[in-house]
Amino acid sequence: MQAIQLTELSGPDGVGLVEITEPSDPTQVLVDLHAAGVCFPDLLQTTGSYQMARELPCVLGLEGAGIVRHAPADSGLNRGDRVAVLTTAGGSWQQTVAVEPADVFPLPDAVSLTAGSGFLVNYLTVHFALDERARYRAGETVLVHGAAGGVGIAALHVAAALGLETIAVVSTPEKAAVAAASGATHVVLLDGWKDQVRQLTGGRGVDIILDPVGGDRFTDSLRSLAPNGRLVVLGFTGGEIPTVKVNRLLLGNTSVLGAGWGEYLRTNPGYLARQWESLYPLLESGTLTVPEPTLYPLSRAADALASLRDRTATGKVALALV
Ligand SMILES: NC(=O)c1ccc[n+]([C@@H]2O[C@H](COP(=O)([O-])OP(=O)(O)OC[C@H]3O[C@@H](n4cnc5c(N)ncnc54)[C@H](OP(=O)(O)O)[C@@H]3O)[C@@H](O)[C@H]2O)c1
Repeated sequence: MQAIQLTELSGPDGVGLVEITEPSDPTQVLVDLHAAGVCFPDLLQTTGSYQMARELPCVLGLEGAGIVRHAPADSGLNRGDRVAVLTTAGGSWQQTVAVEPADVFPLPDAVSLTAGSGFLVNYLTVHFALDERARYRAGETVLVHGAAGGVGIAALHVAAALGLETIAVVSTPEKAAVAAASGATHVVLLDGWKDQVRQLTGGRGVDIILDPVGGDRFTDSLRSLAPNGRLVVLGFTGGEIPTVKVNRLLLGNTSVLGAGWGEYLRTNPGYLARQWESLYPLLESGTLTVPEPTLYPLSRAADALASLRDRTATGKVALALV
């Protein structure tokens, strides 16, 4: 089967198309993938800057979607099922994967295989951030940085499904259009965003900020929170890891919270299944929607990664595997 392997830590050009042997473990679920998501951590792997570095050569990819070819008898899954999979240990940028039943998620008809290939990591991360970390309450407003990126778009969709208003912050008018099409209540451009947020909220500020970007906007984010506001740290695509002057937290009863979804799953068995139980009905009813990703052929995996590095990607990026 075809796969994309990372062979050297030279950035996106360190990946290449290879032929490898199909997995064949009868105790696991064998899934023929239609597509696989491209996540920011995949980009970080190509430079050795991800906290959970894999040994080279390795197949990248944390998620995908396809059709079950084989399932163990007691797994509750059947040959032919349409499923999304998490491959956090193994890699999904290959045509067939073998995964534990607990990492397989039957897709409702409303979610296509291509859309389903790239939503698990981001949707479950932002659901974790809003629900388990920020403890959102009805009527609250959520500001989303990097709102036209993979995590950002997921945040707009999940927040809307939970009945929360959103303010999307993006760097370009093109990205503003993407955020608006993804259901953002308001969209503001990065240049001058703090003043616009103040205006939009009548001076009060927002209740929750989801921040996958970090960098120099962090202090302005703290200034943009309403009393009892929560700023959730998700990542650092901006490169710089910000620091906090803690007197700012005291003044507004502000909380800065880390949200490391993968780590939380490792230390909280059963949480992933509970998350899926609460999100599945929303997906099935169409309350929570998943947009189609930008699909690259497998042969252009390096370009897909480069679009994240170069900040040109809008929405989710995925690789076609059929
Ligand atoms: N905590 C967790 O559990 C968890 C889970 C999944 C992902 N993450 C992290 O979340 C972050 C975002 O991932 P993603 O998939 O949304 O990435 P993405 O699709 O590439 O989007 C990231 C956004 O960051 C903004 N950005 C600002 N400065 C940037 C720069 N120098 N280079 C690239 N982008 C820049 C861009 O928005 P503008 O151009 O509009 O500013 C871009 O759209 C990553 O750090 C990832 O590792 C964390």
